[in-house]
Amino acid sequence: MTSGPIVPTLRPVVDTDLAVFFTQQADPVAADMAVFGPAWPDDEAVFRDKWARIRANPDLLTLTILADGEVAGYIAHFPQEGVPSISYWLGRAFWRRGIASAAVARFIAGIPTRPLYARVAVGNAASVRVLTRNGFHVVGRDQAHAPRLGRMVAEEIYRLDGTDPSAG
Ligand SMILES: CC(C)(COP(=O)(O)OP(=O)(O)OC[C@H]1O[C@@H](n2cnc3c(N)ncnc32)[C@H](O)[C@@H]1OP(=O)(O)O)[C@@H](O)C(=O)NCCC(=O)NCCS
Repeated sequence: MTSGPIVPTLRPVVDTDLAVFFTQQADPVAADMAVFGPAWPDDEAVFRDKWARIRANPDLLTLTILADGEVAGYIAHFPQEGVPSISYWLGRAFWRRGIASAAVARFIAGIPTRPLYARVAVGNAASVRVLTRNGFHVVGRDQAHAPRLGRMVAEEIYRLDGTDPSAG
């Protein structure tokens, strides 16, 4: 892979992406950063079952992030705690290149819903930067169960205000 800025593209998830997502989400460094992943991120049966449900649910929009033609990760729009929310996950080889920030920018431009929310474990500085660079601001704090840690963990709630970008 070349170094330097990469402009990611988004496309629907295809079957062959799943093996890549699994490796990316089983990475303990990434799982520690995200905090709220599954208890056993390297359990492929659990992963496959979860993704089968995600892909079958018409209320969710999940897209693959491509960087230089490679599967860099995914980005998702889904209801969380009753409000429209986003989340994302990149393989570690793609971190710190602006890919998540650019992928979120592209993704939210295509989602008319406002406000739009995201929840981030306190301490996940990279994810907070991705959100704030895209206009999200913190509006609250909560606690959620982190299966991997077996305890409640503090999280911050971020919100993107504004009007439907497709309106007018
Ligand atoms: C969080 C994540 C998506 C960030 O992806 P990324 O492509 O590295 O993000 P970007 O390159 O767009 O960087 C955004 C900012 O975060 C900073 N950053 C990136 N990784 C960082 C880290 N480990 N620690 C602190 N800051 C970090 C970058 O320097 C950049 O800051 P800047 O805007 O001041 O230049 C990625 O680390 C990831 O997938 N982590 C595991 C899953 C996860 O935590 N998902 C989010 C759950 S809420």
